[in-house]
Amino acid sequence: MPRLALTRPISASFARGELTYLERVPIDVDRARRQHAAYEGVLESLGWTIVRLPALDEQPDAVFVEDAGIALDELAVVAPMGASSRTGESRSVEEALARYLPVTRLTPPATLDGGDVMRAGRRLFVGRSRRTNAAAIEQFQRLLAPYEYEVIPVEVKGALHLKSACSVVGERTILANTEWVDMSPFAGMDALAVDPSEAWGASVLHADGHVVMPTGFPRTARLLAGAGLTVHEVDLTEIRKAEGGPTCLSILLPNLA
Ligand code: GLY
Repeated sequence: MPRLALTRPISASFARGELTYLERVPIDVDRARRQHAAYEGVLESLGWTIVRLPALDEQPDAVFVEDAGIALDELAVVAPMGASSRTGESRSVEEALARYLPVTRLTPPATLDGGDVMRAGRRLFVGRSRRTNAAAIEQFQRLLAPYEYEVIPVEVKGALHLKSACSVVGERTILANTEWVDMSPFAGMDALAVDPSEAWGASVLHADGHVVMPTGFPRTARLLAGAGLTVHEVDLTEIRKAEGGPTCLSILLPNLA
């Protein structure tokens, strides 16, 4: 089975998406589409087969597929999304994931966005954020304990999702904006701190020693290269205006049987 990356085209309504920490500024949707295509191209060059979900033009944030479902090795999880405007995205992500994995749903009052779930081996760090609540973390812990995943809550402050603030870039290494996330749950891991001038540089997509990251963070790129990672930069400036980054544009399925 090839390694799959689920993506979705940018919606016609993309410029009207949810914003939590950023001010609204005009978005060039055509340019965002070109940036998204370049992102998919980088994933393909790294051996991922792109599976495109249908466009949802009335759902501005639907390109951020990662938030609507979590794919693990044995199962997938969908949950009520943290922003009610995004509820309409869940069904098609659930249908797509169900082609490859059994899917389990978390239930209200839980709300959880996949951007808050960060995996390091059998540990799942889950951000307690504006989108993901304590009820979701509790349900997630109960659901995943029999599969021997350890679910570890992490406080997120100042960023939309946990993975806006930090990224796992190796089994024991984390890249972080330490202003935006409580680092104490990562004790024992090697921490690479982004320079304060590159606050958004800590959100990168890591797989197999390769890192896909946005252009515009040269110090962070050097830090990652110095740690032995192969860095692939892609211009995501229009996508960042919608409070998105490289992880939330795909759901990776690396370990299908
Ligand atoms: N605009 C991305 C989000 O708020 O979920």
